[in-house]
Amino acid sequence: MGKAYALEPAEVKPVQTKYRKISTKFPVPESLPILEKLRQWEPRSMSGQPLVVWHKAKGVNVFDAYGNMWLDFSSGVLVTNAGHGNSKVCRAIKEMVSRPFLHNYCFPSEVRAQLVEKIANIAPEPLKKVFLLTTGAETVECAIKLCRTAGKMISPSKKVIVSFQHAFHGRTLGAQMVGGIPSLKEWIGNIDPDTIQVTFPGDPRTQDRSFDVFINTLKEKGVNFDNICGVISETYQGGSAAFMPVEYARKLREFCNQHRAFLVFDEIQAGFGRTGKLWGFQHYGVLPDIFTLGKGISSGLPISAVVGKPEIMDLYEPGTMTSTHTGNPVCSASAIANIDYILEKNLPAHAEKMGRVFEKELNRIKEKFSVVGFVCGKGLVWALSIVKKGSIEPDGDLAFDIVKRCVEKGLLLFAPVGFGGASIKISPPLIIKKDAIIEGCLVVEEAIAEACSS
Ligand SMILES: Cc1ncc(COP(=O)(O)O)c(C=O)c1O
Repeated sequence: MGKAYALEPAEVKPVQTKYRKISTKFPVPESLPILEKLRQWEPRSMSGQPLVVWHKAKGVNVFDAYGNMWLDFSSGVLVTNAGHGNSKVCRAIKEMVSRPFLHNYCFPSEVRAQLVEKIANIAPEPLKKVFLLTTGAETVECAIKLCRTAGKMISPSKKVIVSFQHAFHGRTLGAQMVGGIPSLKEWIGNIDPDTIQVTFPGDPRTQDRSFDVFINTLKEKGVNFDNICGVISETYQGGSAAFMPVEYARKLREFCNQHRAFLVFDEIQAGFGRTGKLWGFQHYGVLPDIFTLGKGISSGLPISAVVGKPEIMDLYEPGTMTSTHTGNPVCSASAIANIDYILEKNLPAHAEKMGRVFEKELNRIKEKFSVVGFVCGKGLVWALSIVKKGSIEPDGDLAFDIVKRCVEKGLLLFAPVGFGGASIKISPPLIIKKDAIIEGCLVVEEAIAEACSS
């Protein structure tokens, strides 16, 4: 795992359609100085993405400065739900900048008041308090802190946080402790023994998806259920776009009620219509005690939020749960405009409808190629798990090659993620139309066929 695309321009077939235009070698020879500078001055960890040098982005398209245009199946990384460069969002940003109003720390401001009210109004009862932060990982840290703080008030040993194998919650210390990818947390050394992972029941490779697995794993690990202060799960697992069975989610909710543990859904990917519902957890018919938001909250600028019941969110005294950039006015204004746009255009319903197009197309592709092991997803988030022929073993190299070929054909995807680095994620802006989906899926099909025969 962990590969970089080579900085060697190659001839690629020219493409010209309504959604895609490729008219240069790739990577573009003139872009090499930029790519080299990034390789020289940034850590190696930053060099994992395909070599499209972004210049501007609008709607479902990303453009470089050399005349090429990509149809975007990535939304950056599931961020631009309202489309790239959404006009309403841009106007809101310009208004704040020209006022000018760039920063407010935790001093009161009207724009922050408007945003927290807006999020609270669309959050289900009784999750009515909103704490704004900057990144997704920070919201996870905050959720962990709130679970433990509340647990400690019941008993000093009520501090176990349960999470799921293969889960990704961000790259900060706490978020990686509750993450379920062992290779990402080797650096920690002394992993908190009160962070426990259980098998994720939605993963297509998982045989037993019953809630008994949750109970039995905790028993095997010697966990006293009453010492659990929180259970955290991505609403769907980012690495595979897999959801947990509804029945499992309901039993998990009951378990948390019974043992006075908070249920936390990490909605950083799933929120704001991505899955065909405004909130991903609506698919389960259960409510969390806390949920975390990021990515699609603003369709571009860095802002995130923790939403929860007032008695949880009010655990900390004035001045003791804050952040320098909480509710930054420019980011808040962009989030307000973005949320208004998502609601006005009913993008969750559109995502649901377009999801049915993807489901059909991607399953058709799966039937055609035995290297497509699994197709998972809902709404406008999907994953193709690439496997070694005739097995369920992930094939990260092949997935990497397929993504490269798609990008060379004008379809933008981010590098493969998930188990074995073999999951090709498909997550276009929620404004995408059916003809663009069909066109993009044909590109994926072509790329798989070429990669398999090379
Ligand atoms: C489910 C989930 N949680 C948390 C994060 C971390 O968010 P950020 O990169 O903004 O810290 C991510 C990012 O990919 C995510 O997908």
